[in-house]
Amino acid sequence: GGRPHVPAPASCASMQPRVAVGGSAFKVYRRRTLAIISHPDAGKTTLTERLLLYAGAIQKAGAVRARGNQRRTTSDFMAIEQQRGISVASTVMTFEYGDNLAVLLDTPGHEDFAEDSFRALTATDNVVMLIDAAKGLEDRTRKLFEVCRLRKLPTMTFVNKMDRPAMSAFEICDQIEAEFGLACLPIVWPIGDGDRFRGVYERSTQLVHLFGRADRTGKADDLGALPIDDPRVLEIIGEEALATLREEIDILDSCGHTYDADAVAVGDMTPMFFGSAMTNFGVELFLKRFIELGLPPTPRESSVGAIDPCAAQFSAFCFKISANMDRKHRDRVAFVRVCSGTFVKGMKVNHSRMPGKTLALTRPTQLFASERETVDVAYPGDIVGLTNPGTFAIGDTVYTGGTRVVFPGIPAFSPELFAYIKNADTGKYKNFNKGLSQLLEEGAVQLLYPRGDDGQTEPVLAAVGALQFDVVQQRLRDEYGVETRLEPLSYSVARWVVGPGDDPWEALDAAGRLFNVMYAKDRWGRPVLLFKNVWNLSQLATDAPDLELQSWS
Ligand code: G4P
Repeated sequence: GGRPHVPAPASCASMQPRVAVGGSAFKVYRRRTLAIISHPDAGKTTLTERLLLYAGAIQKAGAVRARGNQRRTTSDFMAIEQQRGISVASTVMTFEYGDNLAVLLDTPGHEDFAEDSFRALTATDNVVMLIDAAKGLEDRTRKLFEVCRLRKLPTMTFVNKMDRPAMSAFEICDQIEAEFGLACLPIVWPIGDGDRFRGVYERSTQLVHLFGRADRTGKADDLGALPIDDPRVLEIIGEEALATLREEIDILDSCGHTYDADAVAVGDMTPMFFGSAMTNFGVELFLKRFIELGLPPTPRESSVGAIDPCAAQFSAFCFKISANMDRKHRDRVAFVRVCSGTFVKGMKVNHSRMPGKTLALTRPTQLFASERETVDVAYPGDIVGLTNPGTFAIGDTVYTGGTRVVFPGIPAFSPELFAYIKNADTGKYKNFNKGLSQLLEEGAVQLLYPRGDDGQTEPVLAAVGALQFDVVQQRLRDEYGVETRLEPLSYSVARWVVGPGDDPWEALDAAGRLFNVMYAKDRWGRPVLLFKNVWNLSQLATDAPDLELQSWS
C-alpha cells in the first residue's frame, strides 16, 4: 500500500486548492485512462471482465461477453461481428474504483483491425501489457508496443495464466528488458506456476497473497494474505517453495531496479504483476496498484505547445468514428477524448479543419460499463461520443478559446491489400458513393484512384487486412443496399511520394517512367505508388534514388 506515487501534473498540483478551474483539478487527478495491449488469447476479455467485476460495474463474470451477445440481438453491433465473433469496433468502458474513475479503452483483438487499436493508444494515458505466462512476448504485443514506445506511454505489465505451466518470471523479465528496453520492476513476484502456483509475494508490504484453487466460474476461494514470516505461509506453500521465493526476492532486491516514478511515467520502466485472470487471482491487487502508479491525464503536445489538462480552455480530439451504431437512426458516433477544460453538453467550440466556424456539441453520449448514457459534463480523460453528423474525421481537434489547436496526427498503417471495388448495380451509384465515403471516414480502409481517373470511377480499396474488405462489402450491402464486386490487384506495398520539392507530382514526373509500379492518388489527390512486392520497391533506390517516400498517408 502506501502513498500514491503519482506525479501530479505540475500545474494541477500548484493550482489546488486556491485557484480551482471550475473545480476540475480534482476531477482530472482522479481519472485514469488505460488500454490493454496483448496478443489474442492472452486473456484480455477475461481480465476486462474481472476488472469491471472488482469495480462493481457488472454483477457477474461473463457479463462483458454477455453484453456483447445482448448487443448483437439488439442489432447494435454489425452483422459481421455476429457471424465471426470478432469485435470490430473498440469501445470505451468507464468504471469507478474507490475515489477514482477508470476509463478503459478497448483495443480490438483481430489484427485486421490493428489500426483501431493504434488509435485507442493515442487516446489513453496508460497502457497495460498483458502477457500469457507460457508464451512471453508475442507478435501483436510487439506491434502495439511500438506505438506505446513512440508515445512514451507508461506501461504496466500483467503476466497472466500463472495457474498454467509458465516460463520463469526471470525469463519473462529478461525478454521484456532485452526486446523492449523496458526496465522491469516486479511489484509482486509469483510463487511457482501451474499446479504448483501458490500465489504472489507483494514486495512493498512483504505479504504473501495465497492462491487457492478456484473453479472455472472464476469464484476465487481467497485464502487472503499473510506476512511472509507467518508460520502458516510455510505450512501452506511448503519449505521448498518458500526457500525458492526467499532466494528470488534476494536476487530482486540486490540486482533488480528500484522504483523510479519518472522512468515509469515516460515508459522506460514497467511495474510488473503476475496473476491469473480466469481464477480472479491478482487482479484486484493489480487494479489497486495501477490506480496508484498510473498517470492521471497529463499535458499533451499540440500545435501550440503542451496543453495542460487543467487549463480552462477546452480541447479534445477525435480518435474513432463508428458509423451506424444505431441502425434505426443511421447515426455516426465520433469518439473524442477530452484533453483539457470541461466539456459541457451543447457547448460551442471551434473545429481544427474549419477555423472560424462555431459548432455546438450536441447529443453527447458516454459509454459506461453497462450502457450508453447521455452526459452533461465531462473532464479530461473522459471519452465522449458525439453524433454531429458528418462533422468529424479521425484526427480532428475541437477547442474553445479562439486559438487554433491541433493535436498531432494519428498513426496509420500502410495498406498491403488492394482491390478494385465495382458497383454491381449501376443504378445505385449514389448509394455506392455515399456508403463508400461514409465508411472511409471511419478510417478502416482507404480509397485510391488510378492516376488519370479524374471521374473517379474506378476506386481501389486499400486495406491492411482482408477482413476489412469483407466488412466494407457487407456493410455496403446491409446499410446502403449496394452489391459490390472486388477485383484484387497483385500489389502489396504502398508508398506516398512526398518529395523532393513541394510538388510531389512534379517530383514523380522528374523521376521518369517506373516499371512494375502502379500510379495512383489518394482521395486528397496525393500521389501513391503501388509495388508488387518489397523487392520492386527496393529497385527504386536505383531507378529513382531522389524520390522521397513515406509508407503512410
Ligand atoms: P483474449 O480476449 O485476449 O483473446 O482472451 P480471452 O480472455 O478470451 O481468453 C482466452 C482463453 O484463455 C480463454 O479460454 C480463457 O478462459 C483463458 N484464460 C484467460 N485467463 C486465464 C488464466 O488466467 N488462466 C487460464 N488457465 N486460462 C485463462 P477459452 O477456452 O478459449 O475460452 P473459455 O471456454 O474459457 O471461454
